[in-house]
Formats: sequence, C-alpha cells, structure tokens
Amino acid sequence: MNDLMGSARRTDYCGQLGEGDIGRRVTVCGWVSRQRDLGNLIFIDLRDRTGIVQLSFDEHTPKESFERAFSARAEYILMATGQVVARQSINPDLPTGRVEIAVEELRILSRAKTPPFAIESHSDVKEELRLKHRFLDLRRPDLQQAMMARHRIVKLTRDYFDSQGFIEIETPILVRSTPEGARDYLVPSRVHKGSFYALPQSPQQYKQICMIAGFDRYMQIARCFRDEDLRADRQPEFTQIDLEMSFVDQEDVMALNEGYMRYIFKHFLDMELPLPFPRISYKEAMERYGSDKPDTRFGLEIMRLDDLLGQCAFKVFRSVLDSGGSVRALCVKGVADRLSRKEIDKLTDLAKTYKLGGLAFTRLTSEGESSSFEKFLTPEEVAAIRTRLGAQTGDVILIAAHTDDQVVSAALGAVRLELGRRFELYDPASFNLLWVTDFPLFEYDDEDGRYYAMHHPFTAPHVEDMALLSTDPGACRAQAYDMVINGVEVGGGSIRISDPTVQQQMFAALGLDEQAARARFGYFLDAFDYGVPPHGGLAYGLDRLVMLLLGRDNIRDVIAFPKVQNASELMTQAPSPVDAKDLEVLGITVTGPAQ
Ligand code: AMO
Repeated sequence: MNDLMGSARRTDYCGQLGEGDIGRRVTVCGWVSRQRDLGNLIFIDLRDRTGIVQLSFDEHTPKESFERAFSARAEYILMATGQVVARQSINPDLPTGRVEIAVEELRILSRAKTPPFAIESHSDVKEELRLKHRFLDLRRPDLQQAMMARHRIVKLTRDYFDSQGFIEIETPILVRSTPEGARDYLVPSRVHKGSFYALPQSPQQYKQICMIAGFDRYMQIARCFRDEDLRADRQPEFTQIDLEMSFVDQEDVMALNEGYMRYIFKHFLDMELPLPFPRISYKEAMERYGSDKPDTRFGLEIMRLDDLLGQCAFKVFRSVLDSGGSVRALCVKGVADRLSRKEIDKLTDLAKTYKLGGLAFTRLTSEGESSSFEKFLTPEEVAAIRTRLGAQTGDVILIAAHTDDQVVSAALGAVRLELGRRFELYDPASFNLLWVTDFPLFEYDDEDGRYYAMHHPFTAPHVEDMALLSTDPGACRAQAYDMVINGVEVGGGSIRISDPTVQQQMFAALGLDEQAARARFGYFLDAFDYGVPPHGGLAYGLDRLVMLLLGRDNIRDVIAFPKVQNASELMTQAPSPVDAKDLEVLGITVTGPAQ
C-alpha cells in the first residue's frame, strides 16, 4: 500500500491504448499535458513516455475525482483508473485518438508550479532556458523519444558485437595523462600531492593492451573526455562505441563494421544498406569535395583550373599560380537568379573565415552576364573555364585562388556545403555512408615546426609507404579509415603498429627520442616486448551516430545532460569553485579568479 497511490498499480502506458482495449478497466499514470474544462465535462490529456491518452470526466464520475480533475493543472502527476471507451470525436493526430478513459477514480500524485515553458515537441523556447530547466525539458516528447532511441541503438550495438564474439571490458576513467591530440581534463590526486590523473580522451592504449592480453575482440560503450572547443557535433564529454580486434587487416575491420552499420540500419530504421560501402581516399576527398568527411549526397564537385590559367593576365590568379598555389572552382547549376551579388558576398565572408582573400565569380543569368574577373582574361581563357566547368546560362561560377592549396580546398569545401544546404541539393532524409581511407600518417604544424600524428601515434603506416617513415614522413600514408555519414565523421580507426621497431620509428618522426617515448609511454612499450598480435580497431561517436539516425543536427539533442559552448552544464552550474579546505588537502592553490 502506498499512501498516495493506494493499492492500485499502473496497468498500461498512456500511449499504448487503442481500440483493442475498449471495455478494459485500466490504470494509467502520467503528467497533465492539457486540461480542458467545459463545465459539466472535463478532458485531460495525460502524457507519459509512450504518448498521450485522453481522460474524460462527466456527471457519472464520482464527485471527489471530478473535483480533482477540475483542480488539475499542467504538469501535475496523476493516476487514473477507468474504462477504455470509444471516443465521440476522433482525433486523427493522436495514435490513441480513437479511445479515451472514462475515469472512475483520479488521484493527484504530485502538484507542479506553472512551468517556464510549454512541454511540447517542437519548442522554439531559447535553448539556454530549456537547459537550465533540463528536468522539464527532458519531459518533452522529442527528447524522450531521442533518449529511448539512444537506448535502443546501444542495445542493438551490444547485441551485434556480442553476436560477433566481442567482449565488453571496462577500462579506467582515472588514467595517466599522455597529452597527444586534445587537452586532457586533469584530476588532482590527494594521496600523491602534486600528481594528477587525466580523464581518458579514449581507451586507445587500454584496448590495445587487451589485445596484447589475448582478449581478441574487445568492445566498450566508453565515456571520453576532451578539453577542446565545442561545436554542434562536439562535446567535452561524449560516448564512443569503441572496438578492437586481433589477427585482422584493414579489410577485415571494415567488413565487420559494414556489417554493424547494416545491422543498425536494418533494425533501427528498417533500411537495407547496399554492400560494400563506397570508398574514397583522403586525397581524392580533399580534391573533389574540399573535405576529409565529404557529404556526397550531392555533386557540386570542386574543379581545378590551374592548367588553364598559368599564362593569364589576371594578377590574382597568376601570382598565386606562379608561387605554386592553386586556382579551383565550383559551378552551381541553375541558381543565377537566386544567387545575388549580396548572397555571393555572404559566401565570400564564409570563405574568408578559411583564410581565403575572396571569391571571384561569374553569374550567367538569363538577362545577361556579370563577372568579377572575366574582363582580365582572354576570350579563349574564359571559354576554356566555362567548358571545363560545363557552365551554361543559369549557372554561377565561383573561383578561389591561394598560394596554399589546402586553404582553397577548405574554403571551397565550406562554400560547397553552404550551397548544398541553401539550395536543397539533397534529400535531408536520405543517408549516404562511405569510407575515407589512406589518410596521411602525419600532419605538419608550422607553428610548432614538427609533425603530429594525424590519427594517433599507434597507427600503422601503409605497407608500401613503410620506408617513407624515416625519409619523408609527410608523404607517408596510414592504414587509417573513417566512416562518414552525410558529411559527418561518425567513426575512425586504424590498423595499429605491432612491430616495436616501427613504433620507435614512429616516435622518432614525432620528435620523441627513446627516453622521451619511454617517459610517456613506458608501460606500453614494455608490453610490446612480450608479444603483440597484429591488431586494429575503430571507435564511433555514439552521440553523432544517434544524432544522424534521428535526423537531428545537434548532438545536444541526443544527450540527456549536455554542456554548452563554454563547457558548463547549465542545470547544475558545473563547473563550480570549491571550498578552500578541499583544495588544501589536494595541495592546490588557485591563482586566477574563480569565475
Ligand atoms: P577519434 O578521435 O577519431 O578516434 O574518435 C572517434 C570518434 O569519436 C567521435 N568524437 C566525438 N564526438 C563528440 N564530441 C567529441 N568531442 C568527439 N571527438 C571524437 C567522432 C570520432 O569519429 N581511439 C581512436 C579510435 C581508434 O583508433 O580506434 C579515437 O578516439 O565520431
């Protein structure tokens, strides 16, 4: 017996009642979505995580329950018992819209203040207000559906990997700091004053040690932490679907993961994905789409004009080409009337954020042509450009030139995406999966004057490029692969180095001599001395995967308690200053002002 509920217990969820239940006596529990008082008739829409059902109260309702229904307000929590009956006026918008519950007994389990915003699916309330009151925001049906979908995707994931012989192993959250990549979140040690744990950026080294230990196939739904700037698809704390396999090569890892994606799409979306997934090399992706995570739901490919303009009189193009740079273009079909000068200026501003000086353009409208650069070229050069781009009346040509080809690539890549969005060049409900392969092993940092591992320092070089590791690291390709869905990097992985000599060469290329490498990764190198199976793996961003599968465009919408731009959590106000005495035991003095 519960003092509020009495002896009755819920028999059904609100959203699951239908015509098949007519005549049954049921008890439901839920939150008041809406109360309508028509004098001698009261209707309440009662909501739980499955949906809404209508409760009805009339002259047959016992007086006490009728009065309680009269006093019920939005977000009160109720328990109602009554008969499921056919509804007089059917509501076709509601899955339960053909029935209602004729209530015999109503209990108010909890009262609520008027919420600061309405609890409804498509809220246009400011996100800040919603996040502050996440306890209310999480009652909104679209967030509830997102959380339940996330649960289901995790369940399907575990089922799939279990069926393939993977074992879930938990790796620690308090780990040794080995900064390489993003900044670590640090946790001070009380016992070892002045020493710090780090929160893991990923379980990379632990999962490799699981291979060295002989677990053969490991997976984990792993929480990861990276102190880096936030974006729509980036949180400081996020979840990976992390896996590692022994006795495999790149093809084996990719095949298993294509199987995983097919399984998820089949069971979650009832969609058959064709096999094998398309593949594109990093180099080709940068060349054609200006991105290492190309959105190939639409064409609008970037084209090279370098060979056509080497002798041209236009200073901007010529000087760039003379100093080894590149001139590349986009031809946007059939938008000349919709892409005004002003709109082109906006795209130019976007390109400038990628360090490009500007965008040259030609608009071929039906009323005539206008161009910012053609007057400086010969008619033959103009004709050659248009032929290369297949430009016709109605099209707009956008050209970028820069001494650094990567700047051109990145800028046109961003402009391409913006155009794709603006002119709806793809079906937003479609899915496009592909592998990006053959990433460079290293990227060079001009400021630091050194190479960094593009993926991480345990990634194996391409078998054919092994010799380049010591002679020309910049040209060395990695056995690394990313899975890209609709232009989002959903997962990435690699075959790992399993030869201690290659691992040493790798560290040398990263500027770590043996001593420095030992200081940082000593335990890992020790493990290598005792036998390492050939192994490789991959990790997905779970948040990103759920976001894409649900067609959302921000990972905050699929995380129960996300952080905002400045890495704080608005509901609990984390992070927060702590008591001086708590810092004292840790031997920590704060020098900057507490925010
Ligand atoms: P990587 O750093 O590429 O690889 O991460 C794997 C995947 O995790 C997701 N991801 C993120 N999601 C949300 N917020 C973030 N801040 C964030 N950072 C990364 C991405 C990404 O593809 N240990 C390697 C994997 C391996 O080699 O097996 C790793 O962590 O979807």
